[in-house]
Order: sequence, then structure tokens, then C-alpha cells
Amino acid sequence: MIEFKNISKHYQLKGQTIRALDQINLEIPEGSIFGIIGYSGAGKSTLIRLINLLERPNEGQVIINQKDFTALDARSLRQERANIGMIFQHFNLLQTKTVAANIEMPLKLLGVSKAEREKRLNELLEFIDLKHKKDAFPDELSGGQKQRVGIARALANHPKILLCDEATSALDPQTTKSVLALLKKINKEQNITIVMVTHEMDVIETVCDYVAVMEQGKVIETGSTLEIFSQPQHPTTKNFIQTVLQQQLPVNILKNLENQNHNSIYCLQFLGRSAQETVVQAVIKKFDISLNILFANMTEINGTVIGQMFIQLLGDPAIIQQAIEFLEQNGVKVEHSGDQV
Ligand SMILES: Nc1ncnc2c1ncn2[C@@H]1O[C@H](COP(=O)(O)OP(=O)(O)O)[C@@H](O)[C@H]1O
Ligand SMILES: [Mg+2]
Repeated sequence: MIEFKNISKHYQLKGQTIRALDQINLEIPEGSIFGIIGYSGAGKSTLIRLINLLERPNEGQVIINQKDFTALDARSLRQERANIGMIFQHFNLLQTKTVAANIEMPLKLLGVSKAEREKRLNELLEFIDLKHKKDAFPDELSGGQKQRVGIARALANHPKILLCDEATSALDPQTTKSVLALLKKINKEQNITIVMVTHEMDVIETVCDYVAVMEQGKVIETGSTLEIFSQPQHPTTKNFIQTVLQQQLPVNILKNLENQNHNSIYCLQFLGRSAQETVVQAVIKKFDISLNILFANMTEINGTVIGQMFIQLLGDPAIIQQAIEFLEQNGVKVEHSGDQV
């Protein structure tokens, strides 16, 4: 487990103090894929660089598996760092070295013998499916291939933790998918804890077990990805979720409504496999009101379906009230969205 305890980090810039991190308390469970999301400048990179103490905090402790990293001497820290791999948005490969030399570099620095390096190199090339590019230079690779080399280099010394700072932000959507799939495979097969900094909610949605949302150097919300997606609390979290799961009724649909009674619009939220259709059909059958489905969408997070449906309910207010209670009894969260739309 990685623990941040009361972490603060300040920078001095032109006589001003920038509070890059402000009293961070966070726990990252071992073996998980943990996402840290936030807008640019939120403090994500500063936080992830604290894990291997590339940055030192002004206050607080970084504790990894009960060991206080902030209290280690230089030599012990060097040893511990060898268990932590890192990959970056712009890959950070040495342009004048071949793929093989890039991947082998951390092992060379650790003084691993040539024979052992060769063995590990071949395993890694096999794993990232780039055997045929062994002697190529970074310039000759696509973005996705470069990141695979970055991943192989980070894994060379069998780390327990892999840090990813915007590792897919420079890649197209298709390549992003394949790199995320590779990271998921690493997490599952090798039980490596992965900390993933991103500004893209779909990265979180695709691979993360847990997520922390950062803003202005603070963690404003944290929980399992499912919790955060199904019950976001903070407006910024809601904005991020909106990018993958539309939280508001599209304006066009609203404009084209036959009945402009916005007060009759409700947003239903379904969690888990509480089949949307069955519940909605039951309402239509059971209650003498008219129910129009305006807009619906859904997504799947770690095997659980989260869905939203905007409906218009017209009819006797007392019966509408009964229908809403019926929906709630069946595990559907009902929000009157009249004010929001
Ligand atoms: N070395 C530095 N010197 C001065 N300010 C910095 C330094 N590194 C980061 N900052 C500032 O700290 C804040 C957080 O930065 P960063 O952690 O890079 O955010 P993010 O990765 O979320 O975009 C920003 O205001 C940034 O300008
Ligand atoms: Mg950053």
C-alpha cells in the first residue's frame, strides 16, 4: 500500500508561493490500478513524482508498505526506487540508442550481467510484441510502439509499482486502448500496483479500480471507480463524468420537446443490472400516467452497468408521486431535473 500522509508541496516562483499540493491524505491499495484525475495544474504530476521521491514534500510522509520513504537515506532510497518503474507522456526514450539499449538501460545501471540482461530483454520484447524492432531506433517507431518500449524499460527490473504520468495522452484512441489493455494485463498477471495520472475520464473508466479527483493541490473526492461514477459529489467530478456519461439532457432534445413543461422531466439513474427496461415497463403498466423516454445512455464499469434515463412524466401529480416511489423501491435513483434542464 502507498500512503500519503498530510503531504504538502510548495514551489517558490517569482517571489510567490505556489501550493502545488495542499494537505494530501490518500491510500493506494496494493495490487490496484489507481487513477488520479484532474485538470492541468491540479498537482497530479507533483503527487506521482513524490512516490519515488523525485520530488520531496515540504510536509508529510510517503509510506510504501509500512516503510517511510521520506525518512530513508540516499542509499536505501536508491534501492527502493529500483522497485518502482515509471512511464511518461512523451516516452522519454534515448533517441540515439536502439530499442534494446533503451530497455536494458536500467539493468545496466544496476550492474546486472550481460547474460542476464539479454535474457530479460528477450522476455520483455516478447511481452510487448516488438521482437522485430530490437535494433530499431525510437524515430522509426510509432507512438504506441514507443510507449511499449517505455513500458518494457519500466518493467525491466521487476518493479512492484508502476507509475504512469499521462501515459496515453499523446496517443490516438485506438493506440490508447491497446496500451491500456497492456497495462491491465501487467496489473493482473504480475500483480503490479499501477498509479495512473490522467486528465481523461475514459482512461479511468476503462482500467482503474479506484480514482482520486484533484483540484488546486487537493484531493476533492476519492473512491472506487464505480462509486465515483454512480454518485459523484463534487461539481468538478461531475464535469469529468459528463465527458463519458452524459449527465444532462442534450439541448436539442429539450428544444424539440412537444410538451415544454420542463417541470415534468426526471432523471433516472440505474446501477447494476437492475434491468432498465423491465422497471420502466412496469411503471407504464402499473400507473395511469404517460411516460416518455427522452434520452438514455449507459456505460460499464468493472462489470457493473451504470445507466441514466431522462423521462417526462405527465398526468395526475399524486399518481406521478406513487410512480416515483415505485421506481425508488426498485433501486432506481430518481432526480427531478426540472431545475437543471
Ligand atoms: N518545478 C516547479 N516550479 C514551480 N512551480 C511548479 C513546478 N512544478 C509544478 N509547479 C506548479 O505546481 C502546480 C501543479 O503542477 P503539476 O503537478 O505539474 O500539475 P498537473 O500535473 O496536474 O498538471 C502548477 O501550478 C504548476 O505550475
Ligand atoms: Mg502533469
